[in-house]
Amino acid sequence: MNGRLWHGADYNPDQWLDRPDILERDVEMMRKAHVNVVSLGIFAWSTLEPREGDYQLDWMASVIDRLYAAGISVDLATPSGARPAWMAQKYPEVRRVNADRVRQLFGDRQNHCYTSPVYREKVRLMDQTLARRFGRHPGVVMWHISNEFGGECHCALCQQAFRDWLKDRYGSLEGVNRAWNTKFWSHDYTDFAQIESPSPQGEHAMHGLILDWKRFVSHQTTDFMKWERDCIREIVPEAKVCVNMMYRFDGVDYFDMAKEIDLASWDSYPTWHKPTQTLEETAIDTAMMHDLFYSIKGQPFWQMECTPSMTNWQSVSKNKKPGMNIFSGLQAVAHGADGVLYFQWRQSRGAFEKFHGAVVGHDGREDNRVFVETAKLGELLERLAPVAGERKEKQAAIVHDWSNKWAMEEAQGPRNAGLGYWEEITRHYAALARNGIGVDFVNQDSDLSGYKLVVAPMLYMLREDFAEKLRAFAEQGGTLVVTYWSGVVDESDLCYLGDTPHGLIDTLGLRRLEIDGMFDGETRRCVALDPAMPRSAQGGTLCEVAALEGATPLMVYDEDYFKGSPAVAMHEAGAGRAYYLAARFEPDFYKAFYARVCDALLTPAWPKPLPDGVLAVRRGRFTFLENASDVPAQVDEIALAPYETAVFEAGERIL
Ligand code: GLA
Ligand code: ZN
Repeated sequence: MNGRLWHGADYNPDQWLDRPDILERDVEMMRKAHVNVVSLGIFAWSTLEPREGDYQLDWMASVIDRLYAAGISVDLATPSGARPAWMAQKYPEVRRVNADRVRQLFGDRQNHCYTSPVYREKVRLMDQTLARRFGRHPGVVMWHISNEFGGECHCALCQQAFRDWLKDRYGSLEGVNRAWNTKFWSHDYTDFAQIESPSPQGEHAMHGLILDWKRFVSHQTTDFMKWERDCIREIVPEAKVCVNMMYRFDGVDYFDMAKEIDLASWDSYPTWHKPTQTLEETAIDTAMMHDLFYSIKGQPFWQMECTPSMTNWQSVSKNKKPGMNIFSGLQAVAHGADGVLYFQWRQSRGAFEKFHGAVVGHDGREDNRVFVETAKLGELLERLAPVAGERKEKQAAIVHDWSNKWAMEEAQGPRNAGLGYWEEITRHYAALARNGIGVDFVNQDSDLSGYKLVVAPMLYMLREDFAEKLRAFAEQGGTLVVTYWSGVVDESDLCYLGDTPHGLIDTLGLRRLEIDGMFDGETRRCVALDPAMPRSAQGGTLCEVAALEGATPLMVYDEDYFKGSPAVAMHEAGAGRAYYLAARFEPDFYKAFYARVCDALLTPAWPKPLPDGVLAVRRGRFTFLENASDVPAQVDEIALAPYETAVFEAGERIL
């Protein structure tokens, strides 16, 4: 797969079978747009099997052949993301049951039961029919399994699967009762059949149950994906598979799913040019996702979807300004993408997405801005072929753990108005990105070796084994950053007894005394004791009071009953050091904080400080210098137009 960067789009020729002229034109125009791959037939089930058992694949065969003859490869989709009406009608069990136990009607998409044996069987028949016919076609380089897996089903089949999953995890009902602390409100279970998934009419108080339900849903979703993968591999053992994932998606633990696929990919739809965010902030937020999707496999990924112009589903679906499609495509590559693809190739005529941007619009022209810019990006990606496959150096890692997020956000606690886990992560990430430091994401199963800096924001649920890894990491010379609301509960969401942050007290050189929730906008002033720290900062969201047990305070709270308590502390832990942050501070704080933390520890992508809005990203021997701003920028002798990206290979400018 190496040796080139992929450029392409979702291709849905099933919407155009009555227009052979358009299908001809498509291939011609794809060549002009420097397209070398398409994700084919993602929602084509009703065309592939218009009546039960009546498989119609010839149209697809001719599409694949025509693409292949034009040098365009296929990422062949399994169409399981949307099932045909005949199936929903004949087999109600394939339709999901909502949390309120009402079965859905036919409609929409991505709403089938992941447990249903009927659905799995129908999917098997379809996937294997496709695999038999196309699996060995030289044009098929990848399988696109379904589409944007997500959601949950509460049908009887799923309830049973949940109970079986619990039996597996805990061995016995006693184990379940213990893990969920069911003595509370007299919730002891005496029969597995009494256990039901969370519901507005039922359970929403047993945090352990809710957490395990989320784990189960994630497990079942990945299990369904594996089912599809294995059906294909039964016919074509060497088949490579990918799935397209989503922005800050909560419903699946992508670290787990990533273990089961060959290629990670995600669908990137930031609203560029929105008045509530600087362009640099939008760029950093997007970069953070690129880095997450690189990290879940530790290897290059694809940006499977993006719009070349606008979406149609945002509150205001802004058009990308001239240059932005190229900027965002190159940005994906800078962060580890080996593919930049769009949704979709040709704009639909009707239904939900008729106004969603596409490479080819309703006008069908190739001289409009969207097409011209897309083709230009395709050309640039060809020039950047040497970047393909290039890995990123390990520098800093941020812990983003799905179980932690699920548990923390479900818990009734000091602040139920929103904890903003992603917001917290963003502040750390943005500061590192602005300092030109490459960031990976890790979870509690990850190996921390090779990283110089590990940041663990709001690690409320801290597993014993991961606490051990963090301690060892610092002892052996690593730099660790831990925040408030960490080390509170174990992996069953049971509170640790004794001093907290559990497992990290010796490493941090302090212990938690109290924690207080802050209203939006409410903060406590903090002042610096250390000259390298910002002179003052405002702590908010959750403010912790801690007692020092060996750590050095770098900043302290300066008001209220918090006064004098450490706001920022540092502790030499073995050969390394550990920092502690007692609250969430304003974004600028983190830039100064990480400048201090990273100094002499990590090498930034650019040797000198960069002007606001300019970001530097390193990918192996390549460095990308991006002007993420609406005004021209000057970096040494390099003049960058708005949205321009300069690329350097081992110091030499190649773009
Ligand atoms: C998602 C889907 C696509 C399309 C786009 C529109 O990412 O995977 O099928 O609906 O959104 O933005
Ligand atoms: Zn179900």
